[in-house]
Amino acid sequence: MAVPLMDIQAQYGPLRAELDAALAGVLDSGRFILGPEGRALEATVSERLDGRPCAGVANGTDALVIALNALDVGPGDEVITTPYTFYATAEAIARVGATPVFADIDPVTYCLDPARVRERIGPRTRAILPVHIFGHPADMPAIMDIAREHGLVVVEDSAQAFGARTPDGEIGTYGDAATFSFFPTKNFPGMGDGGMVVCRDEALADRVKRLRFHGSKDKVVFEEVGYNSRLDDLQAAIIRVFYPHLDGWNAARAQAAAWYAEEGLGDVMTLPATADGARHIFHLFMARHPRRDDIRAGLADAGVASAVYYGIPMHLQPVFSGLGYTTGDLPVAEEAAATALALPMHPNLTRDDVAEVVAAASRALESAGAAPSS
Ligand SMILES: Cc1ncc(COP(=O)(O)O)c(C=O)c1O
Repeated sequence: MAVPLMDIQAQYGPLRAELDAALAGVLDSGRFILGPEGRALEATVSERLDGRPCAGVANGTDALVIALNALDVGPGDEVITTPYTFYATAEAIARVGATPVFADIDPVTYCLDPARVRERIGPRTRAILPVHIFGHPADMPAIMDIAREHGLVVVEDSAQAFGARTPDGEIGTYGDAATFSFFPTKNFPGMGDGGMVVCRDEALADRVKRLRFHGSKDKVVFEEVGYNSRLDDLQAAIIRVFYPHLDGWNAARAQAAAWYAEEGLGDVMTLPATADGARHIFHLFMARHPRRDDIRAGLADAGVASAVYYGIPMHLQPVFSGLGYTTGDLPVAEEAAATALALPMHPNLTRDDVAEVVAAASRALESAGAAPSS
């Protein structure tokens, strides 16, 4: 039985009539950019995240760039971030002219380790950019304590984690800014590119809104060099159809993660863990094993999809070679990059699918002649 990594069509299928109606509504309105749908989505996200003001932008990468720019992070500044993330996180730091400083991750959660962040603070440090990677919340209370102590700003890269919580509160409500992506494979998706910046206050949101529109409030007076980066109304209308289903989808992902444990994946690979009291929304289900590549090949033979995220950590990417990192500098991230494997995870995954994946992984390991991981 083939098991795909994700199944977007199965997720959207039952909503087809609602989607058609939402799209027709936008067509009839004739308002496509910065119209009522975009504003309504901003209000919905704001209401959920403690009333923090929000601004829709063109994608999650722009959300990071614009958030950093709006917080005046730029040339000469260092931003401490994780090496174990999608490239856009580090790219955004470089894009505003700042320097990414990579600190190692926590071996259990895969998120930035606050103790390692502390070690990397220097005179040029301006900001911390944690990522709620794979849907697990970063340790925001600890990161915010460090930021307050050292007068740093914090941007939460929440692209993979809408709905995740630390024991204290929902992600997106901690940093000076938080960013989301509505890329179609994200746990809170759209049907194209889209992003959102969540801001600590109205002044920051005003700046983000100005920046997303060429640095102008009114298309007449241009106050600074900005971007053309708006979330369009067709996209916002689609995302608004999905929003009422988000918590159910997140719960279905968590259920599938529980099935992986119940079906015995822990006897084959190391299961992803969740910090005490946290809510992991399993945007991706990352298990690990030293023979990851053998398992992956065996899964492919059995028709089970899997994927490697992220095979080369950021500090070892060619683009950042000038920063002087070498292999061994950030060993926890390097080990994750060498051993972690994304197994099928989506809200429509069935217990039979999960059992099939576990059986295929077990067979793959046996035929590779390896002992199960301890
Ligand atoms: C952690 C992380 N940050 C940023 C982004 C960038 O988002 P987008 O693809 O919408 O630009 C992504 C997604 O691709 C991501 O996974």
